[in-house]
Amino acid sequence: MIDLQKLSQEAKEASITASTVEELSKVQNQYLGKKSELVKAKKGLGSIPESDRATAGKELNEARESIEIIFTERKLEIEEAEWDLNLASEKIDLTELLNPITRGHLHLITQARDQLEDVFVGMGFTVAEGPEVETAWYNFEALNIPDWHPARGNFDTIFVDLGEPEEVMLRSHTSPVQIRTMERQAPPIYIVAPGRTFRTDSADSTHLPAFNQIEGLVIDKGITMGDLAGTIDAFVQAFFGKEVKSRLRPSYFPFTEPSAEFDISRPDGSWLELGGCGMVHPNVLSNCNIDPEEWQGFAFGFGIDRLVSMRYQLDDIRELVLNDARFLRQF
Ligand code: PHE
Repeated sequence: MIDLQKLSQEAKEASITASTVEELSKVQNQYLGKKSELVKAKKGLGSIPESDRATAGKELNEARESIEIIFTERKLEIEEAEWDLNLASEKIDLTELLNPITRGHLHLITQARDQLEDVFVGMGFTVAEGPEVETAWYNFEALNIPDWHPARGNFDTIFVDLGEPEEVMLRSHTSPVQIRTMERQAPPIYIVAPGRTFRTDSADSTHLPAFNQIEGLVIDKGITMGDLAGTIDAFVQAFFGKEVKSRLRPSYFPFTEPSAEFDISRPDGSWLELGGCGMVHPNVLSNCNIDPEEWQGFAFGFGIDRLVSMRYQLDDIRELVLNDARFLRQF
């Protein structure tokens, strides 16, 4: 008779030395295969006394079962380890995607321009554009500023050496887009036009010779100064928050009548002048073949750079064009 206890102990130890499924099946064959001691013993059952045969057979079967369990369990262990190994070798480091390389972002002015567009688009406006190089007609004349008009002098215009003297210029405001839009499109009109504008100003802490404005133009029936004030108020609150107020102060622009400057409240209670506005002058409508008896509207225009500088409390507006990464990274 063989020592079954010892055999299954040996089988257990041998199974542990196998580290792959193939190795394990060789070892398993030694203990359970055709030439194994167990099978030999089973074949030898016939030669033992009849009275012992049943018990011996039973013991052999039990030993076989327990050895089979040893190998099944070891096989699971090996398979699990192989699975883990595969997982580890096929692993993709997704944290690479969570820690992207440092990337730039849109410039402050561009961010503000996009947000302004969003606010106005949300109010039902569309976005219009015009060229940065303009003729006297669009920049002045159609806006009710004939060449003898003293207001031309207020615009500190940069002229381009092209055509008649003072005929072609870098636009000194975004208001020419009003004219271009009314020429192209029949009322009702609800547009905003952001863009670059230029004046001979030398750069200092509050001025830039190349700056950005956003123009608004509404032409419809029965539009009043109340609509203008309400639109400005709604915009100011959407852009700066509910606590910021706006106010209109009487002013003068040749292309609006009546005209106003609009201010917004600062946290300390003082007011910041943001831009100009007013009811579109009947001459301007006529210049664009729109009947002032039938249609009315308002227009406004203000500096985006100034708005950004107020929003972020910049001491010097020139920061916006110096392109110092240490400054820009903060936003
Ligand atoms: N274009 C004017 C400026 O640049 C602002 C303005 C726009 C005023 C529209 C009234 C209406 O100063």
